[in-house]
Amino acid sequence: MRIIFIVLISICLANKTLVILERNEDEQKFSQFIELLKKNGDKVDIINKMTLFQLFENGEKKYSSVVLLTPHYTFKKVSVKEFIQFIDDGGNMVITLGKKYEDGYKQLLYSLDMEVDSNGSKVIDEKHTVKIGEFEMIFSNNIHHNQNIFNQRIQNILFSGIGLYLPPSPLTTSLLKAQNSASTSLFPNVSFAQETNITLVASLQARNNARIIVSGSSLMFSNMAFDSVIEHPTLNPIKSDNKKFTENVIDWVLQRRCVIRMKNIHWEKINGVKEVNYDHQLVINDTIKVNVELEQLDQGNYVPFNVDDLQIELKLLDPVIVKNFKRINNGKYEVIVQTPDKFGVYTMVINYRRPFLSYLEYKETIPLRTFRLTQVDRFLTGAYPFYAACASMAIGFIVFSFIYLNQIEKKEIKQD
Ligand SMILES: *[C@@H]1O[C@H](CO)[C@@H](O)[C@H](O)[C@H]1NC(C)=O
Ligand SMILES: *[C@@H]1O[C@H](CO)[C@@H](O)[C@H](O)[C@H]1NC(C)=O
Ligand SMILES: *[C@@H]1O[C@H](CO)[C@@H](O)[C@H](O)[C@H]1NC(C)=O
Ligand SMILES: *[C@@H]1O[C@H](CO)[C@@H](O)[C@H](O)[C@H]1NC(C)=O
Repeated sequence: MRIIFIVLISICLANKTLVILERNEDEQKFSQFIELLKKNGDKVDIINKMTLFQLFENGEKKYSSVVLLTPHYTFKKVSVKEFIQFIDDGGNMVITLGKKYEDGYKQLLYSLDMEVDSNGSKVIDEKHTVKIGEFEMIFSNNIHHNQNIFNQRIQNILFSGIGLYLPPSPLTTSLLKAQNSASTSLFPNVSFAQETNITLVASLQARNNARIIVSGSSLMFSNMAFDSVIEHPTLNPIKSDNKKFTENVIDWVLQRRCVIRMKNIHWEKINGVKEVNYDHQLVINDTIKVNVELEQLDQGNYVPFNVDDLQIELKLLDPVIVKNFKRINNGKYEVIVQTPDKFGVYTMVINYRRPFLSYLEYKETIPLRTFRLTQVDRFLTGAYPFYAACASMAIGFIVFSFIYLNQIEKKEIKQD
């Protein structure tokens, strides 16, 4: 019974990818790419752009990822809005374009904070063009070097398609740019986004950790580009690294790598004002100890994740206290903080945002209460006006009664 349950869980959790092709014959053309999607036994459904399909079933995502290898998909079967909803729901996407693309792609990219060059234009680069089969392709070494996404050295990526432009955004990254000599065919002299280099492949990790790859070329993922040798006058013949590049990118976008999580978050008061019945409430100048664990996905299992730059913040509107966690064990972290010297409703924030890794964020509201009666001294020098008022009243009462009583007695003597 238990085994069945475990099997069921692992089936539900396994990645399921939908691939939409231009036509059925393309399955042959992209067979190595599709093999990469199927790695580790992940399920892949392949359809062509004419097939009816659904991204959601009973309000739940049917797929964990969608790959569009169809520059001419018209968004009639499933609308742009639905794809955006899919991403908002945490779905991953790979979007590939060609020289000509449909309007839906423009809208889709716009909502992903990216722009694409004018319809029909093409990135050209006289200095880095090679003939591959019947196609002219450019190649680029301008790769975004980051250990997290590319865990090996990658060079010479073949590309044939349209340029992208990424407005400055903390969420998007150019994974592959054209070389400096490139321009686009529609405007040879006003190169599209020349100053920032032309982006060929872009990545986006949304705030909900959905991952998206946009490529201006579907051809770069074809078997032909994977198997080609680049023969160029300036180079020794060298095999293209398109396959290595794609493998790294797919492992990232399908969330097989660079997935981290935080667990066992726990804090306790270790020093400060004593309480008879400790009710997990804090006052100012209390010392608390916070423990947390980090884990990373590795070959389908979570293993401890070690970093040196995990921080805790106590903030009102701005951070009041920021402190580094200390690693006390494999993947286990601890920090000792003193609460601020000012009452208020604070938020304890532990967040970890690094390029290409999942965003981690933990928030907890911790109000710093005023002291209870039992927690303050009996005698407060600060309250001297009050003490003085009481004392002067008592003295005044005694003096007044003494004088008054004496006067009455004198009157009575006179009457006698
Ligand atoms: C781009 O051109 C193609 C063919 O000319 C056309 O079908 C398509 O609608 C155009 N796309 C846009 C965004 O105008
Ligand atoms: C681009 O170059 C062509 C000729 O080479 C010229 O006619 C055109 O005005 C130029 N465009 C710009 C924006 O400079
Ligand atoms: C464009 O790319 C080149 C590397 O090919 C780099 O040296 C240059 O700084 C880049 N330009 C900008 C504005 O990023
Ligand atoms: C809290 O600690 C600060 C110094 O860290 C001290 O100046 C202040 O008097 C303390 N406040 C109380 C109420 O103990």
